[in-house]
Amino acid sequence: MESSKLLIEGGRRLTGEIQIHGAKNSVLPILAATLLCGRTKTREAGISRTKTREAGISTIHRCAGLSDAFAAMRILRSLGCDVTHEGSTVTVNSANAEGDIVSDGLMHEMRSSIVFLGAILGRVGRCRLSFPGGCELGPRPIDLHLEALRRLGVKITEDHGILDCTAGARPLSADITLSLPSVGATENIMLYSALGAGETVIRNAAREPEISDLAGYLIKCGAEISGQGTSTLVINGVPELHGCEYSVMPDRIEAATYMGAAAITNGELMLRGVRPSDMYSCMSVFSEMGCGVYPYDDKIFISARKPISAVRTVRTMPYPGFPTDCQPIVMAVLAKSRGTSVIVENIFENRFMAAPELRRMGANIKAEGKVAVVEGVKKLYGAPVRAYDLRAGAALVVAALGAEGQTQVSNIHYIDRGYESIETALSSVGANVKRV
Ligand code: EPZ
Repeated sequence: MESSKLLIEGGRRLTGEIQIHGAKNSVLPILAATLLCGRTKTREAGISRTKTREAGISTIHRCAGLSDAFAAMRILRSLGCDVTHEGSTVTVNSANAEGDIVSDGLMHEMRSSIVFLGAILGRVGRCRLSFPGGCELGPRPIDLHLEALRRLGVKITEDHGILDCTAGARPLSADITLSLPSVGATENIMLYSALGAGETVIRNAAREPEISDLAGYLIKCGAEISGQGTSTLVINGVPELHGCEYSVMPDRIEAATYMGAAAITNGELMLRGVRPSDMYSCMSVFSEMGCGVYPYDDKIFISARKPISAVRTVRTMPYPGFPTDCQPIVMAVLAKSRGTSVIVENIFENRFMAAPELRRMGANIKAEGKVAVVEGVKKLYGAPVRAYDLRAGAALVVAALGAEGQTQVSNIHYIDRGYESIETALSSVGANVKRV
């Protein structure tokens, strides 16, 4: 079925305010973590229910209306959780959750479903799920996830694309060093180690703010975690976790996307409900482009009255370096700038999917391996383009806002995975965007 499209009439300066939603990459692991509540796990008695039903109830605020979030809620329901949501508040009751299988369909709907593995194993001690589909960004290996879980006593067999996992006796202490600071692997180890006896140390852990947000939720549920935000995380398993009320951190990538929209249209935007302290590396790139970037407590004001200048080198790195998720958006803005920029993508193998589509709009980008050379052009022109992944799709929307004429972006279901109604937010600050 041909998914809906966005029709964008470019060339209008954006001015006004946008309220930023809760972070996709935080609410997904937190929704998985709700599975751990309402369960007692001791070395002697093994796994049993907690006394009170309430222990299984979590209320999560600032859950954005994203297709990935709805997919995560479907997975929770398939595992036996009661899940309701009202606006941006989701209530999960995992008291009766006994499920240990994530269906093939659900796994393929959302690659990051792999983060349910640690939570399901932590709750019921076994899990069967299909290997997460590769995705647009290249093969998405999970070798670090599996290696760490094996070190934690989990038996894992893989056959015909199905992972069959059974928790064994967990070592009383495990010291795991990740060969690269994988966000997902760090999250899976945290989720599996939070419940049940044993001290787990993760070295070279991911330091992303979303990791700290997941730790924040788990600690509020009674977990014992320290070091979040640093490269060394220590998780002391506890016998019981109870549900809690928690508000998800702001989405720093959504915020950076709208900064890109302001920059390419020479506009001025006030972004509300953000956490500037998560965004120094993004803000500094926009400042280097010549934008005025003014962070306040929970707001960022960006002003781009002058034409955008090229940035000598943008290289993506694990946090606190420049985030790979912002790279396609910044590529779109630099496509219409004065001078030549070099972009180095160090995290994913195939994350220049926006480049050929931007070239259809008149951009001059040569992408080879992990390097893309962007020769800024004076003008971009509207054209029919296609989203091939979430952030490349967002990059095309940003480019279209700064292009002359009409752009038609198709495959926007990719964009809906990570942005709640992007056309509403952009129209509210003067863009001419219609979903058809
Ligand atoms: C998370 O993906 C985010 N997704 C991604 O955001 C983000 O780009 C990425 O972290 C990096 O910040 C969610 O949080 C749901 P990784 P994840 O494990 O966990 C390799 C978006 O647009 N690797 O840190 O999959 C991997 O192939 C998405 O919102 C292994 O080799 O990222 C990649 O090259 C896209 N083996 C690199 O590490 C492993 O076992 C970083 O992956 C795991 C990862």
